[in-house]
Amino acid sequence: MQYRKLGQSDIEATAIGLGTWAIGGDSQWGHSDDKTSIYAIHEAIDQGITLIDTAPAYGLGHSEEVVGKAIAGKRDDIVLISKCGLIWDNTEGCALLMHRDGVDVCRNLAAGSIIEQVERTLKRLNTDYLDVLLTHWQAVPPNKTPIEETMGAMDRLIEQGKIRAVGACNVTPDEIRTYASCGKVAIIQQKYSMLDRTVEQNGIMDTCEELGITFQAYSPLERGLLTGKVTMQTEAVGNAKKSLRFYAPEERQKVLAMLEQFKPLCEKYETSLASLAIAWTVARKPFMNVLCGARKPEQVSDNAAGGSLILEQEDLELMDRLSAWASEEA
Ligand SMILES: NC(=O)c1ccc[n+]([C@@H]2O[C@H](COP(=O)([O-])OP(=O)(O)OC[C@H]3O[C@@H](n4cnc5c(N)ncnc54)[C@H](OP(=O)(O)O)[C@@H]3O)[C@@H](O)[C@H]2O)c1
Repeated sequence: MQYRKLGQSDIEATAIGLGTWAIGGDSQWGHSDDKTSIYAIHEAIDQGITLIDTAPAYGLGHSEEVVGKAIAGKRDDIVLISKCGLIWDNTEGCALLMHRDGVDVCRNLAAGSIIEQVERTLKRLNTDYLDVLLTHWQAVPPNKTPIEETMGAMDRLIEQGKIRAVGACNVTPDEIRTYASCGKVAIIQQKYSMLDRTVEQNGIMDTCEELGITFQAYSPLERGLLTGKVTMQTEAVGNAKKSLRFYAPEERQKVLAMLEQFKPLCEKYETSLASLAIAWTVARKPFMNVLCGARKPEQVSDNAAGGSLILEQEDLELMDRLSAWASEEA
């Protein structure tokens, strides 16, 4: 397993982490079996993965609760990331992110709210600290809290020992610079896969590199598509998959044709398509950190193999060429 430092913090973690969004279930992913999810988290720890990412919004608190149960007695072996900025009660005056599962999920990065949100997160996770707290979705009018205020609240949480480091998700390059002007930023978390390289084109990746911030890729498997388990007949269950460009039939056809061309590489390295895609992503940048979502133990062990697989340069370039169409057509 490869290890990497998180930004300029003193926190080191495996280059791949376990993402627990699907473990939250609900309308985003469809039903998740908690017992299997706990086995999956234990499998990650057994495989040597030290990084776990969750968020209050994943299953409206459910993912954090399941992670809390799974890491009981193992807390200090794990680098635990959770988030703030999305609430679904006392939402008056807050901008709506989406209506789902009978509630309005709204944005709130005001200082007082962050302090309360983190207290609830710690309770659900049954821990007294987070290694990294990320802002999940950025503030917009009518409650566009200045980043300075948000960072001030996160600083207070660091002083109180409730979090060790901070970061942000789903930002613009300008927002990254504002965060960095207010304090140390360990992680920027954003969507990235071989099919979706938007962050290489819009300046986010370059800004992270320039400022010494870890870029943390989410959805590196395009929510299961790049594992090869999805066929043209597979029904996409849950909004998380349905909302992806590459699940649409025309795009899916192109993805499946691309995966066929990867199969000789799977034979060469005696590995799966999932671990091949993960190894490609990890190799992309030395300051990259890759969050692989999974809710079954066998998925976790498959993905863990990608965290230690080193691909030869010519194979990385071949995969680069075979997948470049998706970004060129975007
Ligand atoms: N900050 C943000 O806004 C944000 C947004 C998205 C994600 N994230 C984080 O990043 C993590 C990863 O992203 P993601 O979960 O969206 O997408 P992903 O990692 O691309 O895909 C995860 C899904 O792919 C399937 N899968 C994974 N490994 C597999 C394997 N080896 N074989 C077969 N199927 C496999 C599973 O689907 P099934 O469970 O259906 O089998 C799994 O839930 C999330 O869990 C979350 O922690 C953050």
